[in-house]
Amino acid sequence: MRNGLPIAGSSPVLEALHLGFGYGEVELFQNLGFAVHKAEVRVILGPSGSGKTTLLHLLAGLLAIQSGDVQWQGQSIRGLSEEVLARRRLLFTGLIFQHHYLQAELTALENILVPGYLTNKVDPDWGLELVNRVGLLHRAHLLPKALSGGERQRVAVARALYNRPKLLLADEPTGSLDRRNAEKVLELMLSLSGDLSTAVIVATHDEHLVQGLPEIRLG
Ligand SMILES: Nc1ncnc2c1ncn2[C@@H]1O[C@H](COP(=O)(O)OP(=O)(O)O)[C@@H](O)[C@H]1O
Ligand SMILES: [Mg+2]
Repeated sequence: MRNGLPIAGSSPVLEALHLGFGYGEVELFQNLGFAVHKAEVRVILGPSGSGKTTLLHLLAGLLAIQSGDVQWQGQSIRGLSEEVLARRRLLFTGLIFQHHYLQAELTALENILVPGYLTNKVDPDWGLELVNRVGLLHRAHLLPKALSGGERQRVAVARALYNRPKLLLADEPTGSLDRRNAEKVLELMLSLSGDLSTAVIVATHDEHLVQGLPEIRLG
């Protein structure tokens, strides 16, 4: 497994600066600061309700910043229009959620190619390589409904990395899997993103699963 340490000397892929957020009167976190560099892995740990999803959404530019700042490669994303953010997000980040959100009418391989269609970078050979890397070459032409939960999540991992993003954000990516599949999907996610030098931020409540990786603790 990757040790989660950054490549020395590189400037941050993502930086959170004095980040604070609350819903109404309820403050979830304040003055949060951390930087994530190329190929580095960080885990956001905390119990349910501690604000992990909220933090990931702020980092992804999916939620408006209340206080502090988020920078992607040294550039603040605060105040960017939805349109600009959406376009940048598509190239800069890969997203994985607890639910796979695969398109039911597309095969595994076609699902992996979706980010390519959205950015005019369709490369079937790269799609096939990814499907192979996640161990699903023999299942590339099956629809999601014909795949197991672990297999679907492996497709979601490959899709998230299709555009070779600088940053992978994963929110409880193994939350609906049994232990064995959870470990397999996590290991695959970390090794594949490591090969692409993609920085990874993964949120989970499962301390056991991510033991030994550097953490940001909430709650
Ligand atoms: N849109 C919202 N409006 C009000 N409260 C919210 C909203 N989204 C989340 N919360 C609350 O904020 C807290 C943190 O939620 P969340 O970020 O989903 O935590 P986690 O992912 O760690 O379980 C929870 O108490 C949740 O109920
Ligand atoms: Mg959550």
